[in-house]
Amino acid sequence: MDFTGKVALVTGGGGGIGRATALGFALRGAKVMVVDADTTSGQATADIVAQRGGTVAFVQADVTQSASVQAYVKKTMDAYGRIDCFFNNAGIEGQVRPTQEYDEDMFDKVIAVNLKGVFLGLRHVLPVMVAQGSGAVVNTASVAGLFGGPGMPAYVASKHGVLGLTKVASTDVAGLGVRVNAVCPGPVETRMMRSLESQRNPDDPESIHAAMSRMIPAGRYALPEEIANTVLFLCSDLSSNTTGTQVVVDGGRSGSGGTSVRR
Ligand SMILES: NC(=O)c1ccc[n+]([C@@H]2O[C@H](COP(=O)([O-])OP(=O)(O)OC[C@H]3O[C@@H](n4cnc5c(N)ncnc54)[C@H](O)[C@@H]3O)[C@@H](O)[C@H]2O)c1
Repeated sequence: MDFTGKVALVTGGGGGIGRATALGFALRGAKVMVVDADTTSGQATADIVAQRGGTVAFVQADVTQSASVQAYVKKTMDAYGRIDCFFNNAGIEGQVRPTQEYDEDMFDKVIAVNLKGVFLGLRHVLPVMVAQGSGAVVNTASVAGLFGGPGMPAYVASKHGVLGLTKVASTDVAGLGVRVNAVCPGPVETRMMRSLESQRNPDDPESIHAAMSRMIPAGRYALPEEIANTVLFLCSDLSSNTTGTQVVVDGGRSGSGGTSVRR
């Protein structure tokens, strides 16, 4: 996969999956724009990419705000003149709480970042790609976009919504040279899983990590780089006829129908 001369835009670029993907793009020749609400982690990603010899810039932006999204698109165009690859990835986990007890404000917040943020990214990046006549988008959904599970109503609803947006947007631009796909990670070794493990068992989060790992046929969480590699594939010409679909990266968990338990 060679992205020489291409421009890659990565939201949530300060986080685990976004950072690995930004680095993956840069090491394969892309010029990268890192977007994150958090300046410290977003700038840290840009510094890491630059230290590895990549061409990179960081822009602070809140994906829930239309003006902020338009600003990150404009900054990318001003800096690099085009957008070839868009990893629409910023997300939050919210609370772990049963539906009947879930906080309404938290529900709105999770939907705003995970679903509206992805819509706004599509809304303002797709016109650039359509004008170019080329481009590839990967939205970050989750296995939580395919299945339910206890205690995460907002997150699960948002990720199901991301897959819906992916299907609609892909058909809207399929005849215009632009592809839109989604990636569905299972548990990945990032801050987000540490948060969820702590919420499920504050006294012994490691026990949740161990129990979750036993439910995965591969016996472990994914590494951020393993999600990044799938995103790179979906943004590359190697997937030139793949659009409107999702790739699951979960160590075989969903393929087992949730029945696999390693002993
Ligand atoms: N870690 C997992 O196990 C896992 C599994 C499936 C899907 N995902 C999804 O992968 C994506 C990346 O998650 P991660 O594991 O790297 O988590 P992370 O918390 O390390 O990274 C998420 C990043 O998004 C940024 N962000 C949050 N709200 C934002 C906003 N309003 N505007 C801009 N940036 C914002 C955060 O600052 C953070 O840097 C998310 O969409 C998440 O739902 C993660």
